[in-house]
Amino acid sequence: MSVTAIKKTIILFIVLASNAGMADDSAMLSPAEDYCRWQVKDYAIEKPLCGLVGNIDRGKAIASDGSKGNCLACHQLPIEGIEAYGTIGPPLEGIASRLSEGFIRLRVVDTRNINPMSIMPGFYRDPSLINRPEKIYKGRTFLTAQQVEDVIAYLVTLK
Ligand code: HEC
Repeated sequence: MSVTAIKKTIILFIVLASNAGMADDSAMLSPAEDYCRWQVKDYAIEKPLCGLVGNIDRGKAIASDGSKGNCLACHQLPIEGIEAYGTIGPPLEGIASRLSEGFIRLRVVDTRNINPMSIMPGFYRDPSLINRPEKIYKGRTFLTAQQVEDVIAYLVTLK
């Protein structure tokens, strides 16, 4: 792991642990938008968020973008030209042959539904459940519903 990757991971940990966010965390914010409700059944969200259709290429870019999904801080993904990735989470190569789309969606949307102790961020967790004092965070999710669906569209290609 490179020093930058380690630093990124540490920063992410601090943000998650304090649950209060930091001033320069704003790059990770999605624009405020109307929050789409989702339903969990048997540890899965079957329906795409807001009925949106994801885009594979955009999803791949979001997954590797340190200011968006930042999945590579914790996971290995089969993306070329990456100098370092995190190993805190399991490698995601072949994920779609192990897990269903609905389960993967719940993992990305609000992983604590599956593991309440998880350190993975809930990328589309209900913002009203997130206790962040700063006003700019109000009503915001880490990723937009479209960005989540883009990431899912990419992940389901990993067979
Ligand atoms: C802060 C570290 C961290 C980040 C960032 C992170 N994850 Fe995770 N992820 C984990 C950990 C740890 C697990 C292991 C399961 C648990 O903690 O419940 C996990 C589990 C998963 C799983 C289930 C894997 C399996 O084999 O069961 C998927 C799918 C997943 N993550 C996708 C993503 C995607 C997509 C992103 C980026 C949008 C992401 N993660 C970002 C830490 C992270």
